[in-house]
Parts: sequence; C-alpha cells; structure tokens
Amino acid sequence: MADKAAVLILGGTRDALDLAAALDGRFDVVTSLAGRTSTPAQPRGRLRVGGFGGAVGMAKYLRSENIALAIDATHPFAARISANAAAACAETRTPRLVLARPQWQPEAGDNWIDVASPEEAASGLAALGNRVFLSVGRQDLGCFAECEGVWFLLRTIEPLGDDVPLGAHEAIVGRGPFPHDNELALLERHEIDLVVSRNSGGAATRGKLSAARVLGLPVVMIRRPPAPEGDVVDAVEPAVRWVEAAF
Ligand SMILES: NC(=O)c1ccc[n+]([C@@H]2O[C@H](COP(=O)([O-])OP(=O)(O)OC[C@H]3O[C@@H](n4cnc5c(N)ncnc54)[C@H](OP(=O)(O)O)[C@@H]3O)[C@@H](O)[C@H]2O)c1
Repeated sequence: MADKAAVLILGGTRDALDLAAALDGRFDVVTSLAGRTSTPAQPRGRLRVGGFGGAVGMAKYLRSENIALAIDATHPFAARISANAAAACAETRTPRLVLARPQWQPEAGDNWIDVASPEEAASGLAALGNRVFLSVGRQDLGCFAECEGVWFLLRTIEPLGDDVPLGAHEAIVGRGPFPHDNELALLERHEIDLVVSRNSGGAATRGKLSAARVLGLPVVMIRRPPAPEGDVVDAVEPAVRWVEAAF
C-alpha cells in the first residue's frame, strides 16, 4: 500500500470525530460529511463536504483521491450512504470497515416497545400516549402525520422551519450531549407521556431513556436498519488498530 494513500472516514458522528483525531498526524485522513448542518464540529485532518453522487460517484472519488481504506462511521440510521459505501468499496476493492456504536439495551425498569420502522412506530402511537417526545430523524417526521389526537415535541440541531409535516407540535433546537437531568426536566416540563426513539446508541442521547425510566414512561424503540455485510467494530480503538494493521 502506498505511503501517501489516504484514509476516508464517512462521518457525521462523534465516533468519526474521535477516529479522525486518533489517526491524524500518522495517516492522511479525510473526513466526508453530507453537509446537513451549517456549523458541524470540525474533524482533525482534511474535510470534504457534500454527497458523492451515489455509489458510482463514490467509486470515482475513491479512485481519483487515491483512497486506500474507508471507514464508514456514519450514523446507524444513515442507511443509504452505508449501502453506497459498501457498493463503491466492493467495486474499487477498497477495504472497508463499519464503525457502529453498540445499540442501547433495556435495563430493569424500562418499558420499551420494540418496532421495526418509523411507520410501525406511528401505527399504534395514539393508543400509547398523546404527548409524545418524537426523537427521530427529520426525514421520518412525515410517517407520523396521520397520528390523530397526538401532540409532538421535536428537537433538532437546525431549526425545522415551516415545513413540519405534523399537526400539533412544538419544535425546539438543541445540540447534544443531553444529560439525564436535562432530559428529565424537558419531559416533565412538556408533560410527555410517551417517548419515541431510534436505537442510535451512544452516551450523548441516552439521557432521554434514563429520564423515561425514572418517570415510568413507555419508549417506542425503533430498531436499526440492517447494516451492509462486512467487518464491523463498535469502538474507535479497534478501528485505529484496523487502520494500523492495513498500513
Ligand atoms: N440519519 C440520522 O439520524 C443522522 C444522525 C446524526 C448524524 N447523521 C449524519 O448525517 C449524514 C446524513 O444522514 P442521512 O440519514 O441523510 O444519510 P443517508 O440517508 O444514508 O444518505 C443520503 C445521502 O446523503 C449523502 N451522504 C450521507 N452521508 C454522507 C457523508 N458522510 N459524506 C458524503 N455524503 C453523504 C449521500 O449522497 P450521495 O448519494 O450524493 O453520495 C447519501 O446518498 C450522515 O453522514 C450521518 O452520519 C445522520
């Protein structure tokens, strides 16, 4: 493998930032972001922003930028970019590793309702609660448009603007981490009786789950989409070792 070849990190997560920091200085590291947020945290090393143009565009990029290795450290619910990375790396024979933080597991006192998708979460929602903290991606909000008699609390990094496809709701802006006490106060202040969450994993947004436990609230937990095949690690350290071994 050529010394000057670069390591591509598909980012947008805390783990991607930590991985870039751990590799920078020893390897030529470039982090790729989709460009969804206007003021993203700046990774160490090089940065590129914006879509590649599907798997074909990513394959072109891998070749033209002399990428030796790719680490998919995107959010576990960002399924399209992960599928594109799998296809582009297969086509260009670029070794690829998925870095996906462990899923959250229910603890004693939790009342989780396991569902496979945002659509399934929406289908039975009104029977479970009517003041709902809806902690899903912006692109999933439309699934909840038909939930009659439900008021939603939403929280996003960037303001949602006027195009929220929901009836009664309040949208607040906030960037994690969101500690337990913060979440407890939020749920109490808004008299939340049900939490809807994706099983994202990680410490930064776990506080809403412990807060729901303390308040005895049910949590509709949306399962992760299946990850593409290939090597997977669940922490930054083994990802660093994988890069070291490859070079
Ligand atoms: N989904 C979430 O809830 C969530 C939460 C926190 C952070 N993020 C981060 O936000 C980004 C977008 O998430 P998403 O759910 O919209 O992804 P997605 O649905 O899997 O991807 C949609 C498209 O966005 C572009 N894209 C996504 N991630 C990219 C990256 N790291 N670098 C360059 N292009 C990227 C790709 O466009 P082209 O096809 O044109 O290449 C991709 O096809 C991800 O990188 C993810 O790590 C997502």
